[in-house]
Amino acid sequence: MISPASIDQVFETARVEEVIGDFVQLKKAGSNFKGLSPFSDERSPSFMVSPVKQIWKDFSTGKGGTAVSFLMEHEHFTYPEAIKYLAKKYNIEIEETEQSNEQKEQANERESLYLVSEFANTYFQKILHKTDQGKSIGLSYFKERSFTEDTIKKFDLGYSLNEWQAFTDEALKQGYNIDYLAKTGLTIVKENKRFDRFKGRVMFPIKSMSGRVLGFGGRILIADKKAAKYVNSPESDIYHKSKVLYGIYHAKQSIAKEDNCYLVEGYTDVIQFHQTGIKNVVSSSGTALTSEQIRLINRLTKNITVLFDGDAAGMRASLRGIDLILEQGMNVKVCSFPEGEDPDSFAKQNTLEELTAYLESHAKDFIQFKASVLFEDSKNDPIKKAETVRDIVNSISKIPDRIKKEIYIQECARIMDISEDVLFSTLAQINKKEFQEENKQYQKEQKAFEVIKHQQPVEKVDVQYVLERKIIEVLLLYGNKTEDFEDLVLKENDKGELILEPVIHQAKVFEKVFLDLQDDEMEFTNAQFKILYYTIIDRLNQDTDFELKTFINSVDTDMSNEITTILMEDERYTLNDWNRMNIFPKEKHHSVAQLVSETILSLRCYLIDQKVKEFQQETLQNKIDTNRNILEEVKDYSGLKMLLSRKLNRVL
Ligand code: CTP
Ligand code: MN
Repeated sequence: MISPASIDQVFETARVEEVIGDFVQLKKAGSNFKGLSPFSDERSPSFMVSPVKQIWKDFSTGKGGTAVSFLMEHEHFTYPEAIKYLAKKYNIEIEETEQSNEQKEQANERESLYLVSEFANTYFQKILHKTDQGKSIGLSYFKERSFTEDTIKKFDLGYSLNEWQAFTDEALKQGYNIDYLAKTGLTIVKENKRFDRFKGRVMFPIKSMSGRVLGFGGRILIADKKAAKYVNSPESDIYHKSKVLYGIYHAKQSIAKEDNCYLVEGYTDVIQFHQTGIKNVVSSSGTALTSEQIRLINRLTKNITVLFDGDAAGMRASLRGIDLILEQGMNVKVCSFPEGEDPDSFAKQNTLEELTAYLESHAKDFIQFKASVLFEDSKNDPIKKAETVRDIVNSISKIPDRIKKEIYIQECARIMDISEDVLFSTLAQINKKEFQEENKQYQKEQKAFEVIKHQQPVEKVDVQYVLERKIIEVLLLYGNKTEDFEDLVLKENDKGELILEPVIHQAKVFEKVFLDLQDDEMEFTNAQFKILYYTIIDRLNQDTDFELKTFINSVDTDMSNEITTILMEDERYTLNDWNRMNIFPKEKHHSVAQLVSETILSLRCYLIDQKVKEFQQETLQNKIDTNRNILEEVKDYSGLKMLLSRKLNRVL
């Protein structure tokens, strides 16, 4: 158990922007930070962090919260894990009571899987460094591969004894539960027998972005045709092969700093690069790269350089997987090594200067590279060439940026000696379907972000739209609540002056909204909001048990989409331009009643402003109706506005 004092201290010290900044590349945007959502594939940032409020919000998924909740979402930490992580980051000493065996068992399952993996990590290192077998077999193997002591320590490399259940026995002796040993795959349980999965292998722990051990890769040391060279941890609640990149923990800072990430195939490639001095390197561990893995990199940089082993067949096979990287809008370069070399062997033979020079001179733009490789392959074969054209254009079609696409088409036409027209029409074919879908999505986004776009210069803010949707939101969230509302009525005081006196009255939120808006004969200008407004009011009027969930389920899809958009999007204003818009200058609403009054009053003030502007226009254009005393009306409105402003100030 972590003491409450320690928890308080962590909360006081941790800065949400610093914590998230370790995982997401954040850019300053006004008083907030923006970045790409770490929870979805996206090209334009919808992830926001507010240093003032110390919260974050991800508009692509709707998630949001504090620094701690970010760690829980992103790293899948439990609450205590998140606290401990922060304590470590900020050098805060944590007061903690020792866990009893019973508590150990009670700790939730994921935590147990982490604990057992952490134990195994320490154990395998101890075996490597402290036992005769570890030293003579494991350590000498690593030395043979020319890994230094520092490198071995840095990557927590270890060794698993060549015995059937040495590790399992030790883990059980230390009080770890066999279930968790089985679930992490460290122990293979067959009927009544138990085997160490990694028997006789050197161990490579696989770590998360934040450095927790998720699983292992173990390499065999003897040449055995029947046994796999590498054995890896099976999928578990904490290890998802498709979501991790070997080396990301050690590379993340350097990837962001260098603004580039080298992608290699193997564990040893990563380690050897590090030892040579290139640290922005990760490995997909021999499998095809997944979009989740790319997303991990995409948070840190837009540039990726894929390094191929020096065998042509492997490289051709890998070319296809790269389209996934293009899809995420990243710039891809490729670099292959001389025949028979892989990044590991090449780095081993060269100095940092030589390696850097090689990478710089041999890294080629992916599309150009692919075009030239395919062109070489199909030069003299018309049928193959047609296929090739499709293949390359398909890659180009994945690039989100249209200008880039066009430039690539021109480049490839030149490289493949084919007319641009052919390539463009192939692109059009491929894109036709995708484009239609994309366009639909785009229009949807446009609609949702309409307000945001209007907000850019402050003057252009569509205040009415914002306020109308705010009213809908208030109704959806609080419509059925009964609140104490404060009304200000004009009274004469003892001295005979007119003053505003507060009168409290109780009402349901929706009644208050409805009556106030009716008083002003106010109609929604946005057609969708208008329909929504009457539907909600109607429902609230009929159903005293109004519940948002049920309501959303009962309306048609268009309307329910509209509703969820409204509820989600609102956060955007709060974090983004809400303050700049000066509609609700207050940071936080203390009560629902306050929020309701404020919204209605703001809308009324706005409408009055509009009226006054209309009059001014009429006056300017000399369209004055002689029967109306414009000046008087303007004065009336101004008076009303002043009154409302005073009420509003009171609310604020
Ligand atoms: N790999 C695996 N299982 C295998 C073979 C390979 O998981 N049976 C993964 C490992 O992550 C390995 C990567 O694929 O690091 C690349 O494989 P390979 O090039 O064969 O291994 P190297 O990393 O070059 O390993 P070494 O240099 O130790 O032979
Ligand atoms: Mn190798």
